[in-house]
Amino acid sequence: MNMSGNTILITGGASGIGLAFAERFLQAGNEVIIAGRRKEKLEEAKEKSPKLHTKACVVSSELERKALFEWVTNQFPETNVLVNNAGIQQRVNLLNIEHDWDYYKKEIEINIDGPIHLSMLFIPHLRKKETAAIINVSSGLALSPGAWVPVYSSTKAAVHSFTASMRHQLADTSIEVIEVFPPAVNTDLGGVGLHTFGAPLDDFADGIFKGLYKGEEEIGYGDSEKRLHASQGELKQGTKLAWEGYLSRNPDFLK
Ligand SMILES: NC(=O)c1ccc[n+]([C@@H]2O[C@H](COP(=O)([O-])OP(=O)(O)OC[C@H]3O[C@@H](n4cnc5c(N)ncnc54)[C@H](OP(=O)(O)O)[C@@H]3O)[C@@H](O)[C@H]2O)c1
Repeated sequence: MNMSGNTILITGGASGIGLAFAERFLQAGNEVIIAGRRKEKLEEAKEKSPKLHTKACVVSSELERKALFEWVTNQFPETNVLVNNAGIQQRVNLLNIEHDWDYYKKEIEINIDGPIHLSMLFIPHLRKKETAAIINVSSGLALSPGAWVPVYSSTKAAVHSFTASMRHQLADTSIEVIEVFPPAVNTDLGGVGLHTFGAPLDDFADGIFKGLYKGEEEIGYGDSEKRLHASQGELKQGTKLAWEGYLSRNPDFLK
């Protein structure tokens, strides 16, 4: 994709990976709109980077996704890039289901319904642009699951699959389809302090931007970059080893 002169909507853009991408896109000479649930985080981001445009939106709600699409395309008709980044992660013990389905389905509504429906809403708008892109932020766990986050991992595998199909269907349009596979990155994903072992956010975002500048369509970093080139056998073994490592650090997880 062209790395400047775009108008870019980033969901979940007020914190973590979304904000790191928003800052880099701003710096590269783009208009950037960030959408997210928490108004105070949107305001905080705007205070730090006054050129950002902000819009509150709950991407798990169909009505709010439609309202976001209407607002963005009315206020910023030149919008030509959609970054589906908003997501949540929940640890789930399948041997002790302690919540109602409402709790578990949130991951599906935010991580799957959000990007798939927003892509479908934006495709007719984006394909009228001379150049356009949809960037989906999935996860290294889309390629081999983290068994401690089974619903989350399945949502990311779904986004990966949808993104691959979308790339084929849009091949003859002006819309480039790009997938970013973060490895563990030090953000507040899943709760404050749960990802401090991850890659430093700025290093990760710089690495992904290198891939964007090179025009790559599937971009990993560190461990997720390795997974993109791993065999099925290596992926299966990696899943097993990661689960065993997780259980040894969290011996009470299945109790
Ligand atoms: N950090 C990692 O280790 C890692 C690894 C692989 C993939 N990823 C993916 O990277 C993406 C960004 O995550 P992050 O690590 O940057 O975590 P983060 O800081 O928690 O960012 C997630 C963003 O999504 C927004 N969001 C969540 N639910 C939303 C909803 N219903 N409606 C609107 N916005 C919503 C959050 O805003 P509010 O809180 O205000 O709603 C937040 O800004 C996610 O898709 C995540 O799955 C992260």
